[in-house]
Amino acid sequence: GSKRCLIAGNWKMNGLLQEARDFIAAFGSNPAPESVEIALMPPFTLLHPMSAQLAEMQIELGAQNVYYEDKGAFTGSICPLMLRDAGCHYVILGHSERRSIIGESNAQIRSKLNASWLHGLEPILCIGETLEQRERGITNMVLAEQLAVLKGAPKNAPLTIAYEPVWAIGTGVTATKEQVTETHAFVHEELTRLGHDCRVLYGGSVNPGNAEELLSCPGVEGALVGGASLKADSFMQIVKAAI
Ligand code: G3H
Repeated sequence: GSKRCLIAGNWKMNGLLQEARDFIAAFGSNPAPESVEIALMPPFTLLHPMSAQLAEMQIELGAQNVYYEDKGAFTGSICPLMLRDAGCHYVILGHSERRSIIGESNAQIRSKLNASWLHGLEPILCIGETLEQRERGITNMVLAEQLAVLKGAPKNAPLTIAYEPVWAIGTGVTATKEQVTETHAFVHEELTRLGHDCRVLYGGSVNPGNAEELLSCPGVEGALVGGASLKADSFMQIVKAAI
């Protein structure tokens, strides 16, 4: 399609300075492919240290979260302008770990979307159902509810969606080709209804062994990779599977 495939690596709460240096050294020898966009979301503490070198390697930088206020007395929070200042293009919003562990709500996610757009960040909005919700047959309802944060959003705002079945995150279990195809079709349909024509990534236990199959499913326009993005060689193999 017209959308360039995105392979994004979410390091979650992993990565010290030396590991960042090792990753860059190991990944650096690989020429960036024309047809695939690569992005990396290290923890906040590694944004500035990694920024210049990732830019040289044509890897986009992203953060894993942002706060929705511009500045002020919000101890422990990071605002969109700080992320821009560190060279970020992307920010992950609504990751299931933040929804379930931190208790982040759709209302908060909506505020974060607005704040991100105001400062020129491209959100990667994560959505996904739990195993219990899939078994109860309410997957589409849950996804529609999560996507409803886009109601009234500016139509041309930069946006990427990541569909991540919660039961596939960090478990080694991936959705089947059929489940991925079916669910991505629903997500695209819902996005069209909301007036957004954006990329939809798949996430959840993507690794070098399954990347090609998952990326070949209709409606899958990239991957949000957790564990397998921590090592340069496995991340590069996933990038290659997207070419
Ligand atoms: O953001 C990434 C996803 O949560 C996937 O994580 O590849 O370790 O399953 P995972």
